[in-house]
Amino acid sequence: MLKTVSSLKHSGKSIGFVPTLGALHDGHLSLIKKAKKENDIVVVSVFVNRLQFRKMAFLNYPRNLKGDAAIAKKAGADILFAPSEKQIYPNGFSAQVVLPNLFKALKSQKLSWHYKGVLIVVMKLFNIVNPTRAYFGLKDPHQFALIKKMVDDFNMQVKICGCPTVRGRDRLALSSRNALLSGQEKKAAKAIYRALVFAKTEMKKNGAKSATSALAGMKKMLKKEAPAVQLDYAEIADAKTLEPLWGKSKEALVFVAAFVGGKRLTDNIRLNLRQRRKQH
Ligand code: PAF
Repeated sequence: MLKTVSSLKHSGKSIGFVPTLGALHDGHLSLIKKAKKENDIVVVSVFVNRLQFRKMAFLNYPRNLKGDAAIAKKAGADILFAPSEKQIYPNGFSAQVVLPNLFKALKSQKLSWHYKGVLIVVMKLFNIVNPTRAYFGLKDPHQFALIKKMVDDFNMQVKICGCPTVRGRDRLALSSRNALLSGQEKKAAKAIYRALVFAKTEMKKNGAKSATSALAGMKKMLKKEAPAVQLDYAEIADAKTLEPLWGKSKEALVFVAAFVGGKRLTDNIRLNLRQRRKQH
């Protein structure tokens, strides 16, 4: 990979990179297609990164490298990079990444270990693939913000590009984890999008000042779906900073993370607050 990339770069080619955990779906395809439009060469990586999973979730994660290779190729990928566990984490690997102090929500999410694992593997993959641009879905806005900050803080020479969440016909945000949901669980998972839309509608009607009550209403809706849906974390924040909304916030991000059948699903929607202010 290092040799291939170095010779491509030497001949002036731009490289678009789509890092994935595999189990590719239409959300990934939109990333690959965008990368193809904007770069000469597209590299897709498939690596189930144990550092960002709890043990059982790691073991149960759907794996289908052959299927992924076919899907990636069809979408326009030129190179599939599927390193082994040993290649990424050889014996003795011990480096750590300290998370930037970026937004308060991270502390309450109890997920700092997860995001540390994400940043470690993303930094390693960037160092190997040396991409011109890298593409991530915006379904996990915290992940996106942390990667962007790491790249800025370490002067890494890659442009981070975000792509909107892709939804199925049932409006469920596409995720590799959806493949692990039973029919019943899929049905229950739809409550996440319903709750997001509820909060967005409330705030459209009543403005940013209604964020607290919209958030409470959204949590109540999701709690009603227990035990099928177990709310992990919900927030309404400034879409740019991911900090609480303030008077000058331009866009709100309504975000939910919930466990459905033990699988952690995340989803979010955005609300333009400026448009609403203009109407009033
Ligand atoms: O978002 C994902 O699919 C993963 O967190 C990533 C960025 C590929 C790192 O393993």
